[in-house]
Amino acid sequence: MSDGSSFYVTTPIFYVNDVPHIGHAYTEVAADVLARWHRQAGDDTWFLTGTDEHGQKILRTATANGMTPKEWSDKLVAEAWQPLLNTIDISNDDFIRTTDDRHEINVQLFLQRLYDAGYIYTGEYEGYYCVGCEEYKQLTDLEEGTGQYEGQLVCKIHSKPVELLKERNYFFRMSDFTQPLLDLYAARPDFVQPESVRNEIVAFVRRGLTDLSISRQTFDWGIKVPWDESHVVYVWFDALLNYITAIGYGYDQAEFERRWPATHIVGKDIARFHAVIWPAMLMAAGLEVPKQVYGHGWLLVGGEKMSKSKLTGIAPEQITDTFGSDAFRYYFMRAISFGQDGSFSWEDLSARYQAELANGFGNLASRVIAMVTRYHDGTIPDAVPSTVTEAETAIRATEKRATAAADEAIERLAVHEAIAAIWQLVDELNGYITLQEPWVLAKDPANADRLATVLNTAVRGLGTLAVLLSPVVPEAAAKLWAALSGTGSVEEQPIRSAWEWKGEPRVEPLQALFPRIEVEAS
Ligand code: ME8
Ligand code: MG
Repeated sequence: MSDGSSFYVTTPIFYVNDVPHIGHAYTEVAADVLARWHRQAGDDTWFLTGTDEHGQKILRTATANGMTPKEWSDKLVAEAWQPLLNTIDISNDDFIRTTDDRHEINVQLFLQRLYDAGYIYTGEYEGYYCVGCEEYKQLTDLEEGTGQYEGQLVCKIHSKPVELLKERNYFFRMSDFTQPLLDLYAARPDFVQPESVRNEIVAFVRRGLTDLSISRQTFDWGIKVPWDESHVVYVWFDALLNYITAIGYGYDQAEFERRWPATHIVGKDIARFHAVIWPAMLMAAGLEVPKQVYGHGWLLVGGEKMSKSKLTGIAPEQITDTFGSDAFRYYFMRAISFGQDGSFSWEDLSARYQAELANGFGNLASRVIAMVTRYHDGTIPDAVPSTVTEAETAIRATEKRATAAADEAIERLAVHEAIAAIWQLVDELNGYITLQEPWVLAKDPANADRLATVLNTAVRGLGTLAVLLSPVVPEAAAKLWAALSGTGSVEEQPIRSAWEWKGEPRVEPLQALFPRIEVEAS
């Protein structure tokens, strides 16, 4: 356990060529749950997200919309990407844009240092470039197009034609880092996760790395190469550096040392950039490599990766407008094993909402609070030791076990396992109430002591749930905490001792945490 230690978590910075869909929101929520958990555990936590605004893809979209790329980016950030964070209740500490001065200036500083150290040279490159990926492609990454692209080579990811480019560019000596990277993967088996992504990365690097073209000359929407202003920095080289320019690289050494290294949460589509190019860049600069790169799975629609370019994107508000942000967060973190692909379906979302959130957790909370109100005038009784049975001991044990298991799962970034561990407490508390039948005890004053013990145990269990679930369903947890008259805000409650909750001995009315939803047949 790492109480008080530093935890720096990042999402990718997203391209502003289009508005967010639930795939982007998925990454945000995963990183947010980790950040909220660590914050609540007392770790020195920092959570960064942001936007990737340079490069040809953004330039072309802006031009097609009759705007400059900066105007376009400003509009998309203000109207779509920043609002996304509210829609799904993201608790980021910072938001970086690659057009920020702090970023542009220190990308140049970094590049100049690599240049001075001899890691950069000029060369000629000819190859197929995918603007969707912003990447030079190997022939194995391409396939024959169909339909309107019949007879052309298209990128397997975007299904759009690639462009044959021939340019005189600056190159980064990435090939120097083949062996150091293999050594890194061997020395730190959890550096790249999950296992499937790690295996792919190791196999890729074993084939040997080539040097990387890191500048472009045919357009100017980017950061200028400091010693040759006729070039702009390759957009991925620029973008990856956000993770250090945001925390002080080049201008606040103390802050940089406090935060770095990071846990990078990304989709597996871009794991290679983060687990190969990025650590090679850092090694060349004499900086520490990331703590971890986690390439999560894809949300699929019709068996394919949901994407903007294939028009299969679902906007997060389509879900939150009906189900709320808590349900969005819970559903994606619970239904998909983090690390694996998952298919989204409205049926599955509705079913889990009803069974797990409304009936499982929400109803438990309403019933317990209603019973304290009805059978004990709204005051929370103390347990009466002479009436404590194994059933109560078992609940207390589960509270501690669930807390420890969830914390351990979070350390492994297994968010779905953490929630499953917490849900054992939801299920056991429901079972406990069914068995103890407080409504029967309440009928006979001779059972008053036993009733007090049962109500006390149920309320304390709910308090533990509010603390443990706060990183996942922050709104519901806050409402529940308030209804239990918990001390302070639920987000301040130390999560690694969640069962030790403190509050006033009285309950307040609680509206349904997850109200019934009438879903229209569509
Ligand atoms: O790649 N399922 O930005 P991007 C799950 N700017 N996650 C998905 C997803 C899906 N179907 N679709 C997208 C870029 N994502 C670069 C990153 S970082 C220095 C630069 C998420 O807008 C997932 O996190 O294309 C994926 O890696 C990311 O969005 C790609 O976002
Ligand atoms: Mg993409």
